[in-house]
Amino acid sequence: MIIAIDGPAAAGKGTLARRIAETYGFHHLDTGLTYRATAKALLDAGLPLDDEAIAEGMARKVDLAGLDRTVLSRHEIGEAASKIAVMPSVRRALVEAQRRFAEKAPGTVLDGRDIGTVVCPGAPVKLYVTASAAVRAKRRHEEIVEAGGSANYDAIFEDVKRRDERDMGRTDSPLKPAEDAYLLDTSEMSIEAAFQTAKSIIDAALSRNA
Ligand code: DC
Repeated sequence: MIIAIDGPAAAGKGTLARRIAETYGFHHLDTGLTYRATAKALLDAGLPLDDEAIAEGMARKVDLAGLDRTVLSRHEIGEAASKIAVMPSVRRALVEAQRRFAEKAPGTVLDGRDIGTVVCPGAPVKLYVTASAAVRAKRRHEEIVEAGGSANYDAIFEDVKRRDERDMGRTDSPLKPAEDAYLLDTSEMSIEAAFQTAKSIIDAALSRNA
């Protein structure tokens, strides 16, 4: 059983994916971390972010078992990741690794931008989790403030919109819902309600497969 979850930055798909994986005892991969780990390795080695052959080489070395969310969540790593995520050969390398992960038993949850459209187009459950840019910026702002940090809402809002443009505007694997994806707009929905909706979709798919 493969559960594909896509959507823009800060829509709540990571939280939802982790909760689903825990509930069903499935393996979870946040595929954004694979792009982030590649970008971080380039930054750490002092290598350029605009050389596709070098970036592909790094992408092929990424260890999916060693992805550290805390380190990789840094803002500048996200920015660098979205630059190398436009490179077709980097995407090919990471998609190969993601597909191998997706086959793990008893099931997997992958979240990202192109899981339902490119990585696992045959996944029996596809969710497209979204929310308005204003709501996503507000949630990200609250998260930072609650963690004791300081942040400027307007800057975050601009950042969310810029990231959307880059993710939706690229030629290779742009962010968009798969035709057979279930759309979950969380703008006015709690994470709990989103989870309950997802759960009923997954339970229906599991009983079809049984
Ligand atoms: O979800 P995130 O912020 O960790 O993603 C980091 C970058 O990687 C983001 O700009 C989009 C890109 N990405 C992608 O192109 N395809 C994926 N499946 C996951 C992330």
